[in-house]
Order: sequence, then C-alpha cells, then structure tokens
Amino acid sequence: MPAKIFSSAILGLDAVPIEVEVDLTRGLHCFNIVGLPDKAVEESKERVSAAIKNSEYDAPNKTNRRIIVNLAPANIKKEGSYYDLPIAVGFLIASEQIKTNTNDKIFVGELALDGSLRKVNGILPTVIMAKKRGFKTIFVPSDNAKEASIIEGVSVIPLKNLKELMFHLDGSGEISPHPVSKIDDYICEEKITCDFAYIKGQESAKRALEIAAAGAHNILMSGPPGSGKTLLAKAFASVLPQMTFDEILEVTKIYSIAGRLGSENPLITVRPFRSPHHTASGISLIGGGAYPKPGEVSLSHRGVLFLDEFSEFQRNVLENLRQPLEDGMVTVSRAKETITFPARFTLAAATNPCPCGNYNDPQKECYCSPSIVSKYQRKISGPLMDRIDIHIEVPRIKYEKLTSEQVAESSLEIRKRVQKARNLQQARYAGENIQTNNEMSIKQMQKYCKIDQETDSILRAAANQMQLSGRSVHKILKLARTIADLSGEENIKRDFIAEALQYRPKDNF
Ligand SMILES: Nc1ncnc2c1ncn2[C@@H]1O[C@H](COP(=O)(O)OP(=O)(O)OP(=O)(O)O)[C@@H](O)[C@H]1O
Ligand SMILES: [Mg+2]
Repeated sequence: MPAKIFSSAILGLDAVPIEVEVDLTRGLHCFNIVGLPDKAVEESKERVSAAIKNSEYDAPNKTNRRIIVNLAPANIKKEGSYYDLPIAVGFLIASEQIKTNTNDKIFVGELALDGSLRKVNGILPTVIMAKKRGFKTIFVPSDNAKEASIIEGVSVIPLKNLKELMFHLDGSGEISPHPVSKIDDYICEEKITCDFAYIKGQESAKRALEIAAAGAHNILMSGPPGSGKTLLAKAFASVLPQMTFDEILEVTKIYSIAGRLGSENPLITVRPFRSPHHTASGISLIGGGAYPKPGEVSLSHRGVLFLDEFSEFQRNVLENLRQPLEDGMVTVSRAKETITFPARFTLAAATNPCPCGNYNDPQKECYCSPSIVSKYQRKISGPLMDRIDIHIEVPRIKYEKLTSEQVAESSLEIRKRVQKARNLQQARYAGENIQTNNEMSIKQMQKYCKIDQETDSILRAAANQMQLSGRSVHKILKLARTIADLSGEENIKRDFIAEALQYRPKDNF
C-alpha cells in the first residue's frame, strides 16, 4: 500500500492541497519523483536520503526497493523545497519504520542533511487553505511557526528536526502546538523617521498629501531640484492610516509568498512604502519570472509605491502600471502559468518639469529647448497622467521660510485626521467589498457622490472648459468625497469640488 501524505503548493496568492504518494516495490533500488517537479523538488531525494540516514532510520538506498513518489494532482507545477518533509514522512511510513494516521495533517518543510528543518516561503496561504479544507494539524519548521499560528483553528506543530517529528508521531515524545499569535501583539506604534513638522512651508503640498493618504489617491509632485519633493514623499509614509485586520492578512500573504517575512516578525502591520530606483525593470515592478513572483506593485499593496524621478523611468516600464492602477491587480502571464496578484497601491511620484528642472520657474531661467521639454514631459503618457488623481507643483521655498523657527504641524496630528476620514470610509463601504474612496465603482459613485444642482453646474462648466475625460470627472468626484470626509461632511459641497479641480494637471507638469 502506498503511503499518502498531504502537503501544499502555492498558486499565485493561494495554496492548494497536494497529495504526496510514496510507493515501494521490489526490485533494484531507484528513487523517482513524478508529478511535474521542478529542479529543487527533484533534488529533494538527496536531502531526504541524507536526513533520514542522519536521523538514525533506514535510508532509501538501504531498503533495496524501487521508490516512486507521486505528487498529485499532476497538472500543477511543484516548486521549491516544500516537499522534503512530506516525502521523508511518506517514505518512513511506506517502509514501515513508523505507523501513524496522516489523514487530517499537512506537512511542509525543507530538510537539511542532518535532519533539521529549514524555513520555507508561503506558509500563511498554506495554513489558510488547511483551515478551509478542514485539516486539523499542520507540521511546519519551527522558524515558520509564528507566521503559521496567526490563523486560529488549525493546530500548528513546530518542528526542529525529523527525529522530533517521528517521536511525536509514534507517541513517544509529544510536541505541544504553538500558541495562537494575536495580531494585536505585533501591532506596534510606527516610528516616524521623516516628520512633516520639520518640512518648512509647502502647505499646499502637505494638504494634497493628506488628501491622498485619506482616500488612497495617486499623487504626482513636480518642481525644481531641491524643493523638497523627495522629503515630502518620505513624510507621506508617516501619515498613512492604520491597517485593518483583513489588510494585514492580505499584505502578509504577499510577503509570505515573496519570502520576505522574518521568523520573529511574521506580520506586516505597517503599510508598505516601496521606492524602486528608476532603473527598475518591468518584471521587478510588475512581477514575473519563470515561476511568477510578486513585483513592486504587489509588494506595495495597500501601501505606497513611490517612484522618485518619475520621468527617468523607461516609458515602457511605466506603461505597465496602467492595468494595476485601474484594476488594483496585475495579471502576469508566463509560458508555464498565468497568475493574478493584488496590486492596490497608492502611487506617489515626483519629477522635475524638464531636464534642468527650472521650466516654468518665475525666478530661474530654464536652459532646455522647447523640444527637449516636450520630449521629457512626453515620457509619461497621457493615459498614465489621466490615472493620477492629484497633480501638484512643489515650488522652491524662500530662505526666510526655510530658516524660520516656526514648527509646522506634526505627522501625528495629520495622521489623526487621515485616520478619521478613513474610518468614515470603512464604515460607509462595510458591505461593499471596497475600502477607500479611490476604489469606488461607477455604481457606488452614484450612491455616495451625490452633488446638488449648483455644484453640478460648476463641475459641468469646468469639464467643458478643461476638456476633462470621463475618468477625470470621476476622479474629481472621488477626490471631493475624500475632502468632504476629511471635513467630516456628509454632502459634497461646492468648495470641495473647487478644491478637487485644482488638482487636475495644468497644460504641462
Ligand atoms: N521645505 C523644506 N523644508 C526643509 N528642508 C528642505 C525643504 N525643501 C528642501 N529641503 C532640504 O533640501 C534637501 C533636498 O530636498 P529633496 O531631496 O526633497 O529635493 P527634491 O525636490 O526631491 O529635489 P530633486 O528634484 O533634485 O530630486 C532636503 O534633504 C532638505 O535638507
Ligand atoms: Mg528628489
């Protein structure tokens, strides 16, 4: 009778159960793994053999049998070192070195040659799948235990080595389950590294960033060198609202698959703030690879993707952002598979208006020729510009302002208002499957962005005069909704629409 052990495979963001069957038949010794294994899974034969031998059991080559390991279903690609542990357990059962019932148990983990267990990626989706499918126990490397025990309802057994597991399974040395990790224990007050209090002047840019944080709106800052754009963007991270429980799980799942969780810090509780360099490739931004992995747009899910020197990015790389900016997800197709990752991020971008940076500056002369200016500005396509809700100029500040003693409002104060506005949105969209104003569909906008006749006539006049696209009009309404939420107002007033209109792009940025 073949032994049957359950394990799991990661498909995109979710896990699916995998049956690991191990069969021994008489004949010359051989050890084969079938069921679409990749190179790392193929190599697991060697790790498993050495780990079993060094744990003082009869290794596969000692049995003088033909060993077949089948990973089912056979149509799913199996990758990584996930299956070392289930293959080893399956072999020990099939060779009758241990007797145990493995029906409602899942095994994952990489084996070292001495039989100890190493951490693997993607444990969180596996535990979520285990709970959904009714598995009672999951056996994981001890370094993954904290991450796994976030999900209540599945008993997590942390393992240091194979021998320990064998003693547990045959009843001679029980391992107690890892206590359930409470999300609250991991939520700590974020340290503010760049505070708005130390940024002098730039009140209108700060206001725009506050609105962007409250409603998760995309923002583009343009201005001369040294005016404080990068500084403002860094401070933006300090006013983002707290993550909800669901958001924490969503983001942690992405980081778990990407292998970016520490064993001591198994949860992402602070909104991600990613700032890839402008030489970044399309794949690093969007995700991909032979076995698709999440890119920067997914790593900044529910947080901020900050693209400094926006115009310096390659145009085709930036164009990749169009789908995720619109849909909040990204679909990566590769020869082997097509995978969709969530990518609902707030885009914060900063750029100079031209190569020398002084275009449109009232005080400094711009040395760029008109054709160079327009070529520079054309690097960001119209459709991409249209997807950005807030366009602001960050002018150079005067010496007196820069050196004044006056302390500006702190990030903490601003964050309080942002949090209040976000709480209003969360209560409003409780049954709607969205979290922020920026995510509203047309139907939801009709419900939540009602305006009176007078306000409507202002918006209509502006739309005609500024030749606004349908998307732009909707963006203005969503922005006005956020401005109303920041003011604690139920209705979208005329002033809110007027302020939102100011954030549309001028002829040039
Ligand atoms: N409003 C301000 N308050 C305090 N310091 C400022 C301000 N603006 C600029 N600075 C100072 O100038 C430095 C440069 O600012 P920053 O890097 O943000 O400029 P930038 O607009 O991003 O320029 P570039 O276009 O060259 O990237 C800051 O590190 C800070 O020391
Ligand atoms: Mg800068």
